[in-house]
Amino acid sequence: MNITNIAVLVSGRGSNLQSIIDNIENGTIPHAYVKVVISDVDGTYALERAQHHGIKAVFVDPNKYENKPGFENEILRIIAQHDVGLVLLAGYMRVVGPTLLTPYKGRMINIHPALLPSFPGLHGQQQAFDHGVKVSGCTVHFVDEGVDTGPIIIQRCVPVLEDDTADVLADRILEQEHRIFPEAVRLFVQGKLTIDGRKVRITD
Ligand code: GRF
Repeated sequence: MNITNIAVLVSGRGSNLQSIIDNIENGTIPHAYVKVVISDVDGTYALERAQHHGIKAVFVDPNKYENKPGFENEILRIIAQHDVGLVLLAGYMRVVGPTLLTPYKGRMINIHPALLPSFPGLHGQQQAFDHGVKVSGCTVHFVDEGVDTGPIIIQRCVPVLEDDTADVLADRILEQEHRIFPEAVRLFVQGKLTIDGRKVRITD
């Protein structure tokens, strides 16, 4: 496995994928390569974005497989073809099962639009907004067996303003996602992250 070779799993618009690609292309993440983008949804804008940058873009249809291990084995097969050492979940809307996670434990990173461990799962921004928090934000973390429970790499706070709607808040959180996700990827590919139990040590 080569830690500078990256696979990105997506399900939607792919703005976080774009932020990774842009930061690689402008040299902020040096010596890293997005080798393949895999979507579990056909025709996503994320796949188009990948193609636009000459990156291999693959739709893997979950309905073609009898079960989750079958589906995840196909993803593994594609990833292995590209000697991938880092898997990014960038708006990938499935819980990763042991088939895919086990070989990539400590090499799989997710972005979540809330300050974990608060508001895991779907619609983190809306959950936080509905709860009435005064501060929310986003979290980049290693993936473990739980839903958004893995060791935290970087978090960024975003204040909730008096006249915010959930959508306006989500937009401001997204801006910060586009900063901390590439930053975490840079730290990983430069070998500056060490997982120590629940803690991620950063030596930058
Ligand atoms: C982001 O808010 C991310 O935090 C969450 O899903 C959304 C994906 O957006 N996991 P995009 O596809 O990267 O634009």
